[in-house]
Amino acid sequence: MAEDLTITKGDKKEQYESLLPQIEALLTGEPNLVANLANIAAALKEQFNWFWVGFYWVIEDELVLGPFQGPVACTRIKKGRGVCGTAWEKACTILVDDVEKFPGHIACSSLSKSEIVVPVFKAGKVLGVLDVDSSELSQFDATDQVYLEKIVALIP
Ligand code: SME
Repeated sequence: MAEDLTITKGDKKEQYESLLPQIEALLTGEPNLVANLANIAAALKEQFNWFWVGFYWVIEDELVLGPFQGPVACTRIKKGRGVCGTAWEKACTILVDDVEKFPGHIACSSLSKSEIVVPVFKAGKVLGVLDVDSSELSQFDATDQVYLEKIVALIP
């Protein structure tokens, strides 16, 4: 497995199309969850340079901070709280154009303006969530949802 990421320019779809097989290659043959989550967060951060990219993982009755790239963040989120806890409770991806308009949004940083949270499923159960924050409003759309859902589905 190559440890160098090839960074692509172009539109968002082209960037994801280039990144997807590279993430797949990074995960292939590696069963360790922390290693895989860490490399996904790093690859997404390197390609897109979003403000914050990382995982929260379900541990007992809370989401607990996992591998991430970006500034320090809150460590525990209850089910149904914030964007992450809501995505966990509803078991679906949530896109937020303006975090200030999301009731109960948990502001780990005032620099975060928009957000997408994608649940990670195994056997129909939410194991954790991928959380991506941008310092720009309305950064995320259906293209991000489609590709980020594909990326988390690669987690072995
Ligand atoms: N904004 C998230 C909390 C996590 S941080 O953005 C890294 C939320 O409302 O769940």
